[in-house]
Amino acid sequence: MTSIGARMALWYTMAATATLGCVFVVGYHYLDRHLTHGLDILNESEFRQIQSHLGPEFATSSSPFREMRVREITENAAAIFHIEVQLPDGSVMRSSSLNGQDIPDIAGQWQYNAAVADIGELRVGSFSMQPFQIVIGTPLQPVQQVMSNYVRLCFGLMLGMVLVSLLIGLGLTRMLLQPVRLIRDTANRIRSDNLDQRIPVANVGDEISDLARLLNQMFDRLESSFSQIRRFTAEASHELKTPLSLIRLHAEKLLRDPSLSTQNRESAQVQLEEIERLNRIIEDLLFLSRADAHAIELQIQSFDPVHFLNSFEQDATVLVEHHGLRFESTHNGNGNAMADLRWMRQVLLNLLTNAIHVSPSGGVLRLSSLLLDGEWEIALEDEGPGLPADQRERVFERFFRYQGGGKTYGGSGLGLAISRSIIELHGGAISAESCETGQGLRIVIRLPMPKTS
Ligand SMILES: Nc1ncnc2c1ncn2[C@@H]1O[C@H](COP(=O)(O)OP(=O)(O)OP(=O)(O)O)[C@@H](O)[C@H]1O
Ligand SMILES: [Mg+2]
Repeated sequence: MTSIGARMALWYTMAATATLGCVFVVGYHYLDRHLTHGLDILNESEFRQIQSHLGPEFATSSSPFREMRVREITENAAAIFHIEVQLPDGSVMRSSSLNGQDIPDIAGQWQYNAAVADIGELRVGSFSMQPFQIVIGTPLQPVQQVMSNYVRLCFGLMLGMVLVSLLIGLGLTRMLLQPVRLIRDTANRIRSDNLDQRIPVANVGDEISDLARLLNQMFDRLESSFSQIRRFTAEASHELKTPLSLIRLHAEKLLRDPSLSTQNRESAQVQLEEIERLNRIIEDLLFLSRADAHAIELQIQSFDPVHFLNSFEQDATVLVEHHGLRFESTHNGNGNAMADLRWMRQVLLNLLTNAIHVSPSGGVLRLSSLLLDGEWEIALEDEGPGLPADQRERVFERFFRYQGGGKTYGGSGLGLAISRSIIELHGGAISAESCETGQGLRIVIRLPMPKTS
C-alpha cells in the first residue's frame, strides 16, 4: 500500500475495532457471570422455599408422608426447577421433570453447570438440609440464548465499527495530510527557473509546518547558489570578451605584417579561428545565463508562417546546397502564428547546422510545418545516423556532444541547449525523435498558439 493516508486509515480502523472487540469480550464474561449468578440466587431462593414448606418436623416424619410432601413441592416447582432430594438411606426422590434421570454430582462443589440428557445444561445448586441433600437445577438455556444474542449483536456492531472507523480514518488522514500534499505540490512545481516560489506555511509550530519551513530555507539556499552561479557565468563571459578582442586585434595586426613567415602566418590564422570559436561560446553562455534569469525580452508578433518559411527556405537552400545536400519544406494549416521571428529563425538555423553536419552527401533535409488551432508544430528531419533513444534528451544539455554517431564535428554542444531555452521562453517544447523511415533524426518544436474560437 503506497499511500500513508490509506495505511493510517487502516491502522485507525484496526485500533478502533480491536478496542471495541476487547470491550465486548470483557462485557461477555461480565454478563455471563452476572446471569449465572442470577440463576444461583434463584436456586438458593427455591431451596429456602422448599425448606420452609417441609418444616422442621419433616426429618422425623414417616417415609410415605415425606414422600408425599416432597412430591407435592417438586411438582409445584417442576415448570422451572429440576429437584432431587437425596435421602439418608441412599435413595433419591426426583421431580417428574427429570424423567427419572440423575442430576450429575461434582464432588466438593455446590454451584456448578451440569448436562442432563434430553433436558440440556443446568445450573445446579446443591444444598444440605440435614439429614437430606437437596439438589436444584435450573435450565441454562435462557442464559445461553441471551449470550448468543449478545455475540451476534457484537459481531454486527464490530462490522459497523469497521465501516464507520474506516470512513472516519480516511476523512481524518485526508485532513491531516492536506499540508503534506501542499508541500508535495509546491516542491514539485519548483524548478531551476522558478526557485523564488515557496511552500505556504501556517502560523503554527507543528511538525509539518517545521518541515515546510526547513524546505523553504533549503530553497532559499538553492536560490542564492543558483543566482551566484548565473551571475558568475554572466560576469565571467563578460570579463573574457575584452581580453579576447585584444588578442584578436593583435593576431590581425600580425597577419597584416608582410615580413611574417608562412608558418607564423598559419599559426596566427589558427589563433584567429580559435578566438572566433571562443567568442561564439562566450556569446552562447551569455545568452543562456540571461535566458535563465528571464532577462531576454521576446518580441512576439503575429505573422503568416508561409512567408516566414519561404524566407527561411531561401537561405537554407543556399546553405544546404553549398554542402551538397537538398532542402525541402512543406506547410499545412491556415492562419497566423505568434512567436518572436528573430529567435525562431535562430532555432531553425541551429537545427539546420546540426543536420548539415551529420547528413551523408546528397542527403535531404525536410522541414515540415503544421499550424493547428492551438499549436504550431515545426519539425526538421535529416538522413544522418540519428541518435540512440537514451541520448535524445541528453543532447539538449549544455556542452553535451554525442560522439558515437559516426560523423563528428567540432561543435561546442550549446546549440540545442540555446534552442530549448528559446522555445521554452515561448512556452513551447522541443524534443528529438527517430524518423518514421527509421533513419535520421527528427527534431520537433511545438509552440502553443492562441485559439481562434
Ligand atoms: N540531427 C542530428 N543528428 C544526430 N546527432 C545530432 C543532431 N543534432 C545534434 N546532434 C548531436 O547533438 C549534439 C549537441 O548538439 P548541439 O547543437 O547542442 O551542439 P553542437 O552542434 O555540437 O555545437 P554548437 O551547436 O554549439 O556549435 C551534437 O554534438 C551531436 O552529437
Ligand atoms: Mg549545433
